[in-house]
Order: sequence, then structure tokens, then C-alpha cells
Amino acid sequence: MRVAAALVLLSLVPAPALAAAAKPPSGEILLRAAGCVTCHSDTDNKGAMLAGGRALRTDFGTLYTPNITPDARTGIGNWRLEDFRRALREGVSPGGEHYYPAFPYTSYTRLSDKDIELMWNYLRTVKPVFAEDRPHELKWYVRMRRLIAAWKWVFFSQGTFTPDVKYSISWNRGAYLVEAVAHCGECHTPRNLAGALKRDRRFAGTGQGPDGAIVPNITPDRRTGIGRWSRRDVADYLASGAKPDGDYAGDIMAEFIDSGLTYLSASDRNAIAEYVQSLSPVENAVGKSNKSRKQKGDFEF
Ligand code: HEC
Ligand code: HEC
Repeated sequence: MRVAAALVLLSLVPAPALAAAAKPPSGEILLRAAGCVTCHSDTDNKGAMLAGGRALRTDFGTLYTPNITPDARTGIGNWRLEDFRRALREGVSPGGEHYYPAFPYTSYTRLSDKDIELMWNYLRTVKPVFAEDRPHELKWYVRMRRLIAAWKWVFFSQGTFTPDVKYSISWNRGAYLVEAVAHCGECHTPRNLAGALKRDRRFAGTGQGPDGAIVPNITPDRRTGIGRWSRRDVADYLASGAKPDGDYAGDIMAEFIDSGLTYLSASDRNAIAEYVQSLSPVENAVGKSNKSRKQKGDFEF
């Protein structure tokens, strides 16, 4: 009896509602969820969207994001899709130079061809903005781009995302969004002295995140991570920044939610939450007492 009633109820759910939940993100939403909009827009100084100029302070000096609008002289108006794919997949410019891994191609290398193309098609439609790239101000010992080749040889493995058939479709969707698109680990995983992610401490948080931000442990450890958060708590946080304890996200995470993650569909945010909750718990109390923003960050190069 109950089963039959449930079936009747299910058949009453309008078909478009089910279809809407599974709708894949557009190129614009992908660019947002991948943080491209956050990092390549200098919002603090009223810079135009995607026109670059945002400062990234690291232990190795300050980098300024380039203009990626389709302006032919100062942006990437002369690029072809192939150049764009190579930049994201291999961290290499059309002229064959290596990019610093502050541009997180270490994650984007796993993006699907289809998503790269969607991003590219949208990027072509953005208003071209004339804004010259500001040169990086780096320590002398990291100025030579040829050195990045050595770094990549040790720390970078190129490759696309491969689903794990042991897990559900939504788990794999979450894994793809976390590892390839939203690159959560690039901020939430501590780095070694060479600025590479510590693989055995994945998502365990760090006191030296971007611009010295304190980045919390998001593994399911109950004491030092987010093991007490429900799946709903995690998904809601990614939509609005509201935490289960009534507090709100701050810092670069708030910015990333507002200009990126909130644009994803609810089902994509749930998939992210499902994946994050399946990570191995790592005990790591991130220095909550030391809230100094002045602290030097070791955010990549
Ligand atoms: C954490 C900040 C950050 C994020 C997020 C980021 N980038 Fe970048 N990007 C950079 C930096 C820094 C550089 C310059 C690297 C260098 O000079 O070696 C760069 C370089 C580039 C370039 C090369 C431009 C040129 O003129 O050579 C392209 C294209 C690009 N990014 C596109 C993207 C796209 C698309 C995304 C999202 C999928 C993205 N970036 C996300 C920081 C970022
Ligand atoms: C650009 C760096 C950056 C990226 C990328 C990033 N985060 Fe964060 N995240 C932070 C920072 C910084 C905080 C701390 C915010 C604060 O101070 O309120 C944070 C906070 C959080 C929290 C709150 C934890 C707590 O205990 O309060 C969760 C959950 C979280 N992030 C999940 C994610 C997920 C999932 C992703 C990928 C979809 C992600 N983050 C991507 C920097 C980042």
C-alpha cells in the first residue's frame, strides 16, 4: 500500500523539475565556480570583470593576474581555443612559456574538454577591456620562468579527471567539481616549502592560505574539521556562507561564494558536500587563535 502511494506521489512530481536539477552549468557559471572571475577581477580597485590586476601576495613575491577579456592588444583576443586549453591543461602560454602555479592549472588540468570549450565560448562574449598586464614583483630566485619547468616536473601531473566506478554518480560529480573546477584543495591543503600541496594532509587546512588567510580544516574530523556538519550544512554554506553555528563565511571564501559557488545548481552543491564528507578525516587544528592577516602566506609561488 505504502509503496504504491509513494509511486503515485513520485509520478506527480512534474518532469521539468527533475530535469532542471540535472541541468549542467553554463560557461559563465563554470568560470565563476572555477574562481576565474574572483581571481581575474580586481574588484577592490573597481577593476572590470576578468580584466585582471588583482594582487596575489605570496612568500615568493606578488603576482598580478592578467587581463583575460577578449581585448586583442592587452587581453587574450588573439588566442584560439587550443591556446586556452593548453594554458589550463599544461600551464603553458601560446609562446611556450611556463605559467606560475599561482594560476591553479594544477587543478584545471583535470577539466573536461567540453567544460573548457564552454568557458572559452563564454569568455569570447565578455566585453573586451583595454587594461595592460601589470608585471609581477617576484623575488629574484623565482623570476626565471624556466625554473617552473623543474617545479612542474616534480609537483605537477597533467591529466583529466577519471571517475571512480566504486562511487555514485553524484559523488563523482562532486569529486570533479572539487578537484578540477572549484579547486578547493588549492586553498584548504597546506603547502610545503616549494609551494606544492602536501598530499598526506589533503583538505586539512592551513594558517598560511592566500594572502595569509586562515583556511579551516574541511575533512570530516569531528574535533578539528567539519565532521559535525550535516550534508545540508555544507551545501547551505556553499550557497550563502551561513555556518551551522550562526556565523558567516569571511575572507576570500565569502568572496568565492558570492562571485562563484552560489551560481552552481543546488544539486551540484550537494554533490560537492557529498564528496567533501567522504574525505579521509585528518586531525589538524588550524591556528584559530592567530587571526593576524599580516602573517606571510605561502600560497604557491
Ligand atoms: C588564484 C588565482 C587564479 C585563479 C583562480 C585563476 N587564475 Fe588565471 N592566472 C592567474 C595568474 C597569477 C596568472 C599569471 C601566471 C603567470 O604569469 O605565470 C594567470 C594566467 C592566466 C591566463 C594566461 C593569460 C596570459 O595573458 O598569458 C589565462 C588564460 C588564465 N589565467 C585563465 C584563467 C581561467 C579560465 C581561470 C578559471 C578556470 C583562471 N585563470 C583562474 C591566477 C588565477
Ligand atoms: C581561494 C581559497 C579558497 C578556495 C578555493 C576554497 N576555500 Fe573554503 N575557505 C577558505 C577560507 C579562507 C575560509 C575561511 C573563511 C572564514 O574565515 O570565514 C574557508 C572556509 C570554508 C568552510 C568553512 C569551514 C569552517 O570550519 O568554518 C568550508 C566548509 C569550506 N571553506 C569549503 C570549501 C569548499 C567545499 C571549497 C571548494 C568548493 C572551498 N572551500 C574552496 C578559502 C578557500
